[in-house]
Amino acid sequence: MKPLAPLCILGLLFSSTALAALDCKAYRPDLVRAKNSFATNCVSCHGVNGDGNGPAGQYLVPKPRNFAVDDFRVGGKKPTIAQIVGVITNGLPGTAMVPFSGQIKDEKERCDLAHYVLTFRKK
Ligand code: HEC
Repeated sequence: MKPLAPLCILGLLFSSTALAALDCKAYRPDLVRAKNSFATNCVSCHGVNGDGNGPAGQYLVPKPRNFAVDDFRVGGKKPTIAQIVGVITNGLPGTAMVPFSGQIKDEKERCDLAHYVLTFRKK
């Protein structure tokens, strides 16, 4: 059995790194890229100021909330980067917030966006 142990450890290491998602909180965001991506993918609903009054957003039920001042549905008063990137990746069922994992394949770009969403926060 002994000779196999190092192999097993290698295998474990490999599978855990391969499966581990990017740690968005530790990742240093590119907020310029995020702003552009937000303009392309999100502004129609969330509005340039993240207030939910984008050209489509204002007619939605439920309407996107105001990122600056409203409590978040996921995370309440203090949403974390992990919670926000989770919503961006997986969407919110029953709302117009669809999963963006297909449209924005680069995990780093989704992390950039999560950090960008928090920049709207005023409280
Ligand atoms: C088609 C309209 C639409 C688009 C496009 C859209 N969203 Fe949303 N988004 C919504 C709606 C509607 C909700 C849910 C509103 C609610 O219940 O508060 C939501 C919720 C969210 C939330 C969760 C807020 C909370 O209260 O927990 C985040 C974060 C978010 N969107 C980010 C984004 C980002 C980033 C993009 C672009 C990649 C994006 N959205 C694109 C409509 C949209």
